[in-house]
Amino acid sequence: MERKLIWSPSSPCLLPFTFLCLLLCAAYLQPTQADAAAGTNPAPAGNGAPSCDVKLTSGKDRATIDNGIIELTLTNPEGFVHGLKYQGVENVLETHEPDDFGGYFDVSWDHPGGEGKTEQVKGTKFTVITETADQVELSFSSTWSSSSKELVPLNVDKRFIVQKGVSGFYWYVIVERLKGWPDADMDQHRMVFRPKISMFKYMAVSDDIQRMMPAYRDRETGQKLAYPEAVLLTSPIEPEFKGEVDDKYQYSLEMKDHRLKGWISDDPKMGFWVISPSEEYAAGGPNKPELTCHCGPICLAMFTSMHYAGLDMVTEYRNGEPWKKVFGPVMVYLNSMSTDHAALWKDAKTQMEKEVQNWPYTFVASADYLPPAKRGTVSGQLLVDDKFLSPTPKEACKAYVGLALPGTKDVSWQFDVKGYQFWTQTDEKGNFLIKNVIPGEYNLYGWVPGVVSTFKHPELITIQPGNEVKLGPVTYKPPRNGPTLWEIGIPDRSADEFFVPDPNPKFINRYFIGKPNDKYRQYGLWARYAQLYPKNDLVFDIGVSNYSKDWFFAHVLREVKPDDYETTTWQINFDLPEVCPTGNYTLQLALAASLETNTYVYVNNLNAKAPAFATGRVGKDNAIARHGIHGTYWFFSAGLPSKLFVKGKNTIFLRPARGGTSPFMGVMYDYIRLEAPPTQP
Ligand SMILES: *[C@@H]1O[C@H](CO)[C@@H](O)[C@H](O)[C@H]1NC(C)=O
Ligand SMILES: *[C@@H]1O[C@H](CO)[C@@H](O)[C@H](O)[C@H]1NC(C)=O
Repeated sequence: MERKLIWSPSSPCLLPFTFLCLLLCAAYLQPTQADAAAGTNPAPAGNGAPSCDVKLTSGKDRATIDNGIIELTLTNPEGFVHGLKYQGVENVLETHEPDDFGGYFDVSWDHPGGEGKTEQVKGTKFTVITETADQVELSFSSTWSSSSKELVPLNVDKRFIVQKGVSGFYWYVIVERLKGWPDADMDQHRMVFRPKISMFKYMAVSDDIQRMMPAYRDRETGQKLAYPEAVLLTSPIEPEFKGEVDDKYQYSLEMKDHRLKGWISDDPKMGFWVISPSEEYAAGGPNKPELTCHCGPICLAMFTSMHYAGLDMVTEYRNGEPWKKVFGPVMVYLNSMSTDHAALWKDAKTQMEKEVQNWPYTFVASADYLPPAKRGTVSGQLLVDDKFLSPTPKEACKAYVGLALPGTKDVSWQFDVKGYQFWTQTDEKGNFLIKNVIPGEYNLYGWVPGVVSTFKHPELITIQPGNEVKLGPVTYKPPRNGPTLWEIGIPDRSADEFFVPDPNPKFINRYFIGKPNDKYRQYGLWARYAQLYPKNDLVFDIGVSNYSKDWFFAHVLREVKPDDYETTTWQINFDLPEVCPTGNYTLQLALAASLETNTYVYVNNLNAKAPAFATGRVGKDNAIARHGIHGTYWFFSAGLPSKLFVKGKNTIFLRPARGGTSPFMGVMYDYIRLEAPPTQP
């Protein structure tokens, strides 16, 4: 029998919900046995819809969970999301050939040295974990064995939860490698959702980035640009997109801003949302840029990836290393009560805030997911001790403070893919409270807007269930050798305060035109450098030049002929009224991004046999090509002997060590400061 939902959520409903529900459930659903386990904190009903009991139907190749609001259909035993019925729409997901699913979990991986592949992980065993009137939780699991060499060496358990009265479902995935399993490299773990092509055309990934999107077909008829992801739309279905560049990387956001994103359908009016209530299971910390949603329509929940980090972020497993991690739960939320996009977004945001409040969840059945009572807390106050900024330690305002796996470097967390991370921001007084930490041993890391480099607490922090580790005041002594002579930029791990050029009019994304904060999202900005500086490179005069106008946001190469790029040399000119006879001047050099670049620093003599300092070849973050404003962070304190300096006019030259065959090589500076030799502050 075809079930049809008869209420209209927009019509005023005077019946009490329970009565309406009984009516609906009696008429359209099988009676359920267990009101027995009633009363386990179901979230309030979405859209004021009535709450029916949750009902599971499982057959040979499908399992369906229905709560009277949504009906979720999963393939059995693979555990792909096949169908999502809502508001009379049989399926809000796209299930086109050759796949019959609109949602999946995949892993990109290979054996070391092997050929990379992306595997949509298939369950082989279906288990009903919970089945009550209030909640159904299902498991679709697969167990790896040495005979399945072509499959990723992971045990995977995909868990789906539907609750009474909730307009959506929860999904989490437990991945596990046992000791002794074969070596593997894993680039990426993610969930992918494909909302229905014919319905979802308006994409919303943040308060500020919301727009009508081109169709996927427009990409297929378009012209591929410098790499396949960037496509010039030449004959789109909707003429308004003609001449635009579409590229999924233009919609990347820092991981901390991924909590709500999705798509809106205008006919019928409804929203499809992916809510990530926590970043604890994501790799790389809160500032890692990551893909959100894109043309397709596609919406992602990213857990680990190389985006804006490169090979430094491959999860390598060697010597039989075991691993276990829970990704999620992520919530898919559906809403439909409104007539405009803004109201749907606002309602979804309220739902997201509710999920964040409820995190960690208490309704998750797996023992691998820890409820609040089994987690611990760490608190303290972060102070910054830089005598040249303040005679006494200053409270670190709005600093990022986080726990991540113990690492050898102070930026290890940037590349960590294996552990959980727990981050917060301090208040104005530097106070921090990190709640709901999974027990274990961590390093405490931090970085402070306006202050260079990274804080790492010298001791390991051990978190125990139900305990609070009270650290009290902890002091970060950032790199500092002498008084500031000059500085360029703001130490905030981003190049956004520098000059970002207008895009080439042939390659614009019109949506970002006139949005100063999003200027860097345009395609092809790397090529604008050579157009602005066709022969002579950038020269920055301290005291005269202004970094917002005169410092190009990326230090890139210049094309001399096709596939041949020469290095470029930037100059910083400044006056020294006196030169200290002994000691080192210090160049504090912070990079916001780097792609395989060794940056040379020369003082006054570009023809010196060797540069005064070289960063070494660092970074694989590809942020220049991916329309980023930062990738991974690198910090260098370069000691520059005073004999290199002269009284009067001096020049510091910055130069990538070599040219190359790619336009995407180079660095983004975050901040540069020259300090005089050490003196008493
Ligand atoms: C630098 O340029 C920006 C952008 O034009 C301007 O807002 C700012 O006031 C300038 N700063 C100084 C010190 O002139
Ligand atoms: C000065 O800088 C040079 C070059 O980086 C370094 O080798 C030397 O140890 C530094 N000297 C002092 C006193 O810091």
